[in-house]
Order: sequence, then C-alpha cells, then structure tokens
Amino acid sequence: MNKAKTIRILGIETSCDETSVAILNVTFDTRNVTSRRSDVERITNHTSRVTLSKHLIATQIPTHARYGGVVPEVAARMHVAETVSLLDKTLGWSSTPKAPFNKGGIEGGINLIAVTQGPGLATALRVGLDAAKTLSWVYGKPVHGINHLEGHMASAWLVPANRKNWKFPILFLLVSGGHSELVLMTDFGKYKVLGRTRDDAAGEAFDKTAKMLGLEYPGGPKLSKLAEKGNPKAFDLPRPMIHDPSLDFSFSGLKTAVRQLVEGRPGRLGRIGRVEDMCASIQAAIVETLVSKTIRAALKVKPKAVAVVGGVSANPKLKADLKAALKKNCPGIKLLAPAKGLYTDNGAMIAAAGYWQILSKRKPSSIKNIDAQPDLDL
Ligand code: KG4
Ligand code: ZN
Repeated sequence: MNKAKTIRILGIETSCDETSVAILNVTFDTRNVTSRRSDVERITNHTSRVTLSKHLIATQIPTHARYGGVVPEVAARMHVAETVSLLDKTLGWSSTPKAPFNKGGIEGGINLIAVTQGPGLATALRVGLDAAKTLSWVYGKPVHGINHLEGHMASAWLVPANRKNWKFPILFLLVSGGHSELVLMTDFGKYKVLGRTRDDAAGEAFDKTAKMLGLEYPGGPKLSKLAEKGNPKAFDLPRPMIHDPSLDFSFSGLKTAVRQLVEGRPGRLGRIGRVEDMCASIQAAIVETLVSKTIRAALKVKPKAVAVVGGVSANPKLKADLKAALKKNCPGIKLLAPAKGLYTDNGAMIAAAGYWQILSKRKPSSIKNIDAQPDLDL
C-alpha cells in the first residue's frame, strides 16, 4: 500500500533584484508513524524525496546594471510585473483558463505558501508579500513569512548528498551581497550568529572594488572570472581583522586600499598593472579573510559539517580554499554548498525554508499582520 505523503510548497522571492517562484514537493514515508522516532526525524530522513516541479527566476540585473546598482523603485515595479507573470506560469492559470486553480494549480495541492519577509528592500519585499497574502486569502492556504537568510541556508539542504550529511550543529558561512555572517544552526529554526561584518558584506566588497575597476554591476562574478588569469600576490592588500580573536569581519579597509591604488590616476587600470592581477589580489584578500574566520569558528564550535551559502558561494576559489583548509585543520568535516544556479537569490530556497517552518513547528504568519521587515536578522 502506498504510504507516501507529499507536502507541496509555493515559494516566492522578491527581496532584491530577482523575482522567483518555485513549487517544492517533499514526499516522505508515513509507515513509521507509530515508531518511537519523532515526526521531524521521520520526515527529514534523507530518503524523503525533495523535488522541484517548477522553478522560475526572472533577473533584473541587466536593467540595474545601467544604473550601476539596484534602484529600489525600479526593482519594485519590475517585481510587480514579473511576480504575476511567474505565478501564472508556475500555477498554470493561462493553460486552464476555465478552471484556473484546479489540477496543478493552487487548489490542486499547494499546502503552504512561503514568501520572503526580509531582509531586503521594503518596496520589493511588499510585492511578494502582497501576492502571497492575496493567494492565501482567496484559497485559504497558510502563509509563512521567510527570513531570506534562512532561505540561503536552506539552499544547501536542497542538494540530496548534503541532506545525508545534515547533522547538527552545522556551521554556516553566509556570504551574500548584503550579509556576511557565521551562523551556527543547532536545529531547524535554531540559529546562533557567531560573527558578522562590521561594515561591508563580502559580496559588497567584491561589487564595490569591481566597480572601481570599471566592471559592470554586479562586479563580483566578473571580478572572480578575471582573477583566474591574475597573480594573487601582485598587490599586497589588507586582510582586515584577520588576526582579531572575534569572529567578525570588516571589508571597508580593503575597499579604501583598492580605491587609493585605482583612483586619482589618469589611465586608471593602466597604472595599476594588469587588471587581472588586481582582481586576483582582491579575491585573495576576501577569500583568505572568510576562510580564516570560518576555520577559527569551526575549531571553536566543532560542528558536524560546514556549509557555505549566499551569492558569494558561487566563487570557485572560496569553495576550493575552504575545502582545503577544512581538510587540513578539521579533518572529516564536510563542506556543504548549494547546487549550481541556486547560489544567488531564488524561490526554491524560500520554499525549502518554508518546509523548515513545518520541521521547527512554527505557526503560520497572520495575513493581517505580516509585513516587510527590511532589517530582519536571524
Ligand atoms: O545572495 P545574493 O544573490 O543576494 C543577496 O542576498 O545579497 O548575492 C549576490 C552577491 C553579489 O554581491 C554578487 O557580486 C556576489 O553575490 N557573487 C559573487 C560571485 N557570484 C555572485 N561574488 C564573488 N564571486 C562570484 N563568483
Ligand atoms: Zn540573497
């Protein structure tokens, strides 16, 4: 007899410059209901099948690149158009015009709606929240407001091999355009921030220095590509706070050092040597700082695994150096990372974090009170 149960979660992400909608299906075996194992243990067993039946991402990057960075008002307007369009494509409204919410649609089995509540741009967040609240109100489905940072953490959980190694505590290096944090996850929904940036985030350090070198927004990926052909020792750039016993980061000194080398010189790049060398030196400074603090934290808290998540986890050197440093200093501790394509903002990770709300037994949000929380922390 089939004892499988599936939970279907609609994930909506509109916190910054990507609109994304996903449907995540988690299927688990209900046969052991009477066993002594807890519900959470049973439904997080790695034999649970976690699949994405839909996942669409609409990026606004080409538009914001024209302005050199994200323009909040433009972002919000684009989210309005894209959210409706992606929900339509995901839920199949236009393909079944007469019965738009039947089979495959929201009434066909979505169990809950997960939507990013913060941190992020207030006006952008409100677009996703309003869509989620409307769907919840019309179809009677519960809504969970999701912390975008928890979403990034859940992006690593979406990888089947990572779920096999999902044993607490897990140390997260969470590095995105807006955040750089070291977080200890002791259970689903239980987080302790061990260290964070005191000024710029790692992604911001990549983007701002890349801008000084004339690279288009967001410069992080472009800088990291150019760095592959450069000499990381060409410029002696600061690694701020690397010897500080705290687990905090600081990247503004690096930004200033690069500015002093680059600005005020005619012919900018020509005067500082090969741009590839500068990119490699900047990348080395950021990566070395992140790796050193992560190892310091791992030695202190002795996690069962280390995970690197957020847009900057797309950086190949960061992952390679972190893996090598773990092997040397903390043998046996695995490095978990998201799958390609899920490093930066996406709806799948928000849906996955929606499932984590069930695992941590959190109550749904009230659609009357749920609002954007631009500065939400873990
Ligand atoms: O997580 P994310 O999509 O957005 C935030 O939540 O902030 O991260 C975007 C950040 C940007 O700063 C971008 O430059 C950076 O991730 N990023 C990279 C790479 N790919 C994306 N930074 C360094 N190397 C990369 N390959
Ligand atoms: Zn993000």
